Amino acid sequence: MKKHTMAALGAAAFSVSAFAAQAADIEAGASAFQSQCQNCHNVINEEGDVLAGRPNVRTGPNLYAILGRQAGVVDGFRYGASLVEAGEEGLVWDEELMTAYLQDPQGFLRETLDNNRARSQMSFRVRDEETAVNIIAFLDSLAPAEDDEEEAVSN
Ligand code: HEC
Repeated sequence: MKKHTMAALGAAAFSVSAFAAQAADIEAGASAFQSQCQNCHNVINEEGDVLAGRPNVRTGPNLYAILGRQAGVVDGFRYGASLVEAGEEGLVWDEELMTAYLQDPQGFLRETLDNNRARSQMSFRVRDEETAVNIIAFLDSLAPAEDDEEEAVSN
């Protein structure tokens, strides 16, 4: 059941990635992050540099290098059970899935887990897809480049 839902989400979001490729606006994403996300989240790299938001914000998890990561696994953050379960069942954040999540975290978890009692501890919703796509592009711009990782591995 869950697989179907994930596939359906992926298909529904297919147009999003085409849209994202054309129109994602990192600067608009940065200012939307500032006004909509940083009350609860920050972005801090492994060296402890604060790349976005403020240092001591802990309402939501650190969003450094969040794309490509399993949901619900930031060290030391106390997630709700539903998000952790979704991660354990294979939810890995990509642009499409995060775009859907940001617009309705609880609805997203209910659909992903096929469980109408799933709950999100993130009560905030981004109002439109374009803003979500821009914020995701901004977060991605703060993540380490894939090239660097490959280099690190081959060294
Ligand atoms: C009112 C506080 C609040 C705001 C505002 C908020 N979040 Fe969250 N966010 C949370 C909490 C709390 C969680 C953990 C959710 C859970 O455990 O169910 C979370 C989880 C997440 C996750 C999943 C992280 C993971 O490790 O799997 C992402 C991605 C995320 N938020 C992105 C955003 C973005 C982007 C914004 C701005 C548009 C935002 N959030 C705004 C509180 C917030």
